[in-house]
Amino acid sequence: MATPAEYRTPKQLDALEQSLRAEMGTLADDRAAEEFRIKYLGKKGLLRSLLKGLAGMPENERKAFGARANRLRADIEQEFKQAPWRSGGATAEHSSFDPTLPAAPLPIGSIHPSVQTCDEICDIFVRMGFDIAYGPDVETDYYNFEALNFPRHHPARDMQDTFFVSDSMLLRTHTSPVQIRVMEKQKPPIRCIMPGTVYRHEEISARSYCQFAQVEGLYIDRDVSMADLKGTLLAFSKQFFGENTKIKIRSSFFPFTEPSIEVDVWCFVCNGSGCSVCKQSGWLEILGAGMVHPNVLKAGGIDSEEYTGFAFGMGVERIALMRYGIDDIRLFFENDVRFLKQF
Ligand code: PHE
Repeated sequence: MATPAEYRTPKQLDALEQSLRAEMGTLADDRAAEEFRIKYLGKKGLLRSLLKGLAGMPENERKAFGARANRLRADIEQEFKQAPWRSGGATAEHSSFDPTLPAAPLPIGSIHPSVQTCDEICDIFVRMGFDIAYGPDVETDYYNFEALNFPRHHPARDMQDTFFVSDSMLLRTHTSPVQIRVMEKQKPPIRCIMPGTVYRHEEISARSYCQFAQVEGLYIDRDVSMADLKGTLLAFSKQFFGENTKIKIRSSFFPFTEPSIEVDVWCFVCNGSGCSVCKQSGWLEILGAGMVHPNVLKAGGIDSEEYTGFAFGMGVERIALMRYGIDDIRLFFENDVRFLKQF
């Protein structure tokens, strides 16, 4: 191949173009292509050096030669890029890229411990024949309170410090409003669980947070009794906490259930001998429950003379805390991957 200085006329450039095109046609693989690129198209390649020959040329020839040399370089570059052995016109710098290699693995996330716990709780009830229902996080005062037998100005509203969105709209303080929504749509028998996030205007501490998850349960049919409630919750506790679990029922108060109870499970951390998780009592409080109040059945459009039912509600993070021996509920909401990756 001639040196740059030997190309002095547009005619010679025509001949050069022909031979370059012929050579391009013989390039068999990436390596040959790369050699071609360096030799002719690279920074020190022939096509970039052609203009150096201009120096010794008469003025009138210079212009034509310069224009021709530039066009030649542009044409060959273009054709080189589009040649069939360069997929997608990639430049030579990328020629080591192999599109058939498997991609580098992406880091895989994990299911949030509170979602895991919620799923497990729901699975157990689904196996017992419960359906799942959902309701809105932003609720009306009617569904969150009024229909659940909390009249306006009822002191029990203080049990649940509420985030109000407007006079009549609020962030639900519990999943119980979904009970009413289910009753309105469905006639007994009703067997339903209702998982969801709830919000309370509470001081944030290791033990309480302004949002958490609950799983609500509702069973309505003819002749449903307290014994059914107890049997259902014991069956749940054995499946969730272990076959040897015992439960303890204490009387309590909720406006929407009568009678109302709270249920404790035998502390599975210390087997009842007393530890920091159960605060030395041997028992862990896991849920509130009771027989659905006749006023609530009425609000749901269900005849309380014909049907009875039970309801329960449990705090998911509370159960997850005990189960994993975690001492600060805030960890569930800080999204620190070092914490989340452990589950
Ligand atoms: N909604 C109650 C709470 O958030 C729990 C509950 C549900 C109690 C259903 C009884 C029946 O505290």
